[in-house]
Amino acid sequence: MKKIGTITLLLTCFIALSQQKTIDEKVNALLKQMTLEEKIGQLNQYTGNNQATGPITINPNKETEIKKGLIGSMLNVIGTKYTRQYQELAMQSRLKIPLLFGQDVVHGYKTTFPIPLAEAASWDLAAMELSARIAAVEASASGIHWTFAPMVDIARDPRWGRVMEGAGEDTYLGSKIAYARVKGFQEKLGNVNSVMACVKHFAAYGAAIGGRDYNSVDMSERMLWETYLPPFKSALDAGAATFMNSFNDLNGIPATGNKYLQRDILKEKWNFQGFVVSDWGSIGEMVNHGYSKDTKEAALQAITAGSDMDMESNAYRYHLAELVQENKVPITLIDDAVKRILRKKFELGLFDNPYKYSNLEREQAAMNNPEHRKAARIIAAKSIVLLKNVIPSAREKNILPLSKDTKTIAFIGPLVKEHKQNMGFWAVELPELDYNTQVVSQWEGVKNKVGSSSKLLYAKGCEIDGDNKDGFAEAVAIANQADIVILSIGERADMSGEAKSRSNIHLPGVQEELVKAIQATGKPVVVLINAGRPLVFNWTADNVPAILYTWWLGSEAGNAIADVLFGDYNPSGKLPMTFPRAEGQIPIYYNHFNTGRPAPNDTAFNYVSAYTDLNNSPKFPFGYGLSYTTFEYSDLKLSKNKIKSTEKITVSLHVKNSGNVAGEEVVQLYLRDKVGSVVRPIIELKDFQKIQLNAGETKVLEFIIDKEKLSFYNAALQWITEPGDFDLMIGSSSTDIRLKNTFELVK
Ligand code: BGC
Repeated sequence: MKKIGTITLLLTCFIALSQQKTIDEKVNALLKQMTLEEKIGQLNQYTGNNQATGPITINPNKETEIKKGLIGSMLNVIGTKYTRQYQELAMQSRLKIPLLFGQDVVHGYKTTFPIPLAEAASWDLAAMELSARIAAVEASASGIHWTFAPMVDIARDPRWGRVMEGAGEDTYLGSKIAYARVKGFQEKLGNVNSVMACVKHFAAYGAAIGGRDYNSVDMSERMLWETYLPPFKSALDAGAATFMNSFNDLNGIPATGNKYLQRDILKEKWNFQGFVVSDWGSIGEMVNHGYSKDTKEAALQAITAGSDMDMESNAYRYHLAELVQENKVPITLIDDAVKRILRKKFELGLFDNPYKYSNLEREQAAMNNPEHRKAARIIAAKSIVLLKNVIPSAREKNILPLSKDTKTIAFIGPLVKEHKQNMGFWAVELPELDYNTQVVSQWEGVKNKVGSSSKLLYAKGCEIDGDNKDGFAEAVAIANQADIVILSIGERADMSGEAKSRSNIHLPGVQEELVKAIQATGKPVVVLINAGRPLVFNWTADNVPAILYTWWLGSEAGNAIADVLFGDYNPSGKLPMTFPRAEGQIPIYYNHFNTGRPAPNDTAFNYVSAYTDLNNSPKFPFGYGLSYTTFEYSDLKLSKNKIKSTEKITVSLHVKNSGNVAGEEVVQLYLRDKVGSVVRPIIELKDFQKIQLNAGETKVLEFIIDKEKLSFYNAALQWITEPGDFDLMIGSSSTDIRLKNTFELVK
């Protein structure tokens, strides 16, 4: 048996190697035929007319340039019809090198899934892999070869609007999610329903000073390696085909011109064989940074640093040839970049059939597949986080889940009847998409759920923004007629996203005042908070008995919310980012150092590391989220309490569903390395399992503690373990630790 296994493995390796060899041979043969101009053409990417996120190049000659082989790739060309049309132009070029079509397929294509931060709250890796898979199936059917996702930037600052695009603040969780998403997008590259992933933004973009988008980043090498780089490495381990660099400068060097990042780390140390695309115009922007004196110098710096493809800067298109002729850029550098890109085009099978991915029939089928909507609904429900569910005065039980027989429900708020808003930022804007029929509004979702058994009343109450309270009276009036009030409030979808940093992350406008007015009626209130980032809503959190954080959930938002409201899905989401009490606490993250003067969480003493006017503790901690049931943790056992770094500890525990309904729990394993040659965080997520338990059921879980989990970067940037004591903590969140033990790592 073992022998057959070995032979199969050898055979697979041999086939893979020989395929790779043929591709390399083909690439080299093609390269030999290419003029310098054609080579540079491959490094040049232009946008089509959809969804631009930067200044568009006005180039009336785009079509002629494609026919001359001067463009290697396009983004923002959507749909079979248009991708085909452009590809037909490329097929008129001398060497018939197919175009590569890239697109920001960030959380779904036509079927829109929850924004990535929301999906991260599901902690369900299989679900996230599936959503990426479905996105790939739909996008690839309409001619897209390449998604600019996943975004894997660690983000500890909710003022930064792009937190919605990533997996939150934690390196371990972020790395797992990065891996799952790449697997989902790519499956097997070259299959007609896979797309290339593009891991972005390399690197440290999430640490923009002050949470202001595009801002500088200044951080220690240790923090870069320990906190910000691992999700990129994990995405690479999953086979990510491409990387995108970032807008920010890192310690004074723009990432786009940063040789250390792109060449030394990515291409050399990590042996990355794919290609790097710049971010939108980021080569040209090195002039604004004050790093390049003009676009020509920027082109020189970017190509030298390892940035292979120029997105919308026109820097390579207009300056590389001259730089080669002046002997400033060796032709080998150009050849290397071209080869990386051509290799991917071969791997995708585009030379065999340039229209392989633009197939009308497949597009029709993929876009109308009910299975995709089904998955979107489940994943959306899994992304919702139950923040609060207490028993209000004058009631015997929690408000949630609601009874489907509730006589009268008042559904109030500016987001109740919205369709498009539920898509969130970075949804693909398909030209002919009718949002009213394609996105289930929250109103429709609840209506679908209760049918005629409940009377549903509606009032908008107020707008998302602005200070107009004229609608309050009507809202209060219908609340008074109802048995239950559901209030749907939050941000507008475009308040979080690229270039959407906000200094004030409170609930916008007069929405919290609307909450106060409705709460004053004495009716039981459930608040739904829709947002692309953690918001501040202290009054609501302190006074309203039930709160669901619904983020932006995509096409099936309304149905998923109704599933959770009425208990058809028991919420299981856990926060992937810390929710602050006030903007003044930001950056705030759970895995911080202790400092020499740690502050007690809930008191502001003098001469400790705290604010005199604000507790250090967050409003809602990382990893937090409730369920309609309860879970009991017990019987923590460690196979050993003393190990060498070559050994492992098996950790086991029991988790029991001690409530009355089935539910899912994310069991989180945290460690603290008590003393180190560099100081270590007070707590760090090192593993987790999401489990499903029927009412009364108990499961035994096992985790393995190995060297990898005990290692860290020391001052010399070596990934090492050091002997000493560790705390082991198992919890339902980063602050709700249920079981503890210790162990020692010995020499
Ligand atoms: C964003 C990228 C995106 C690109 C193309 C840029 O502005 O930073 O994340 O992939 O535009 O749309």
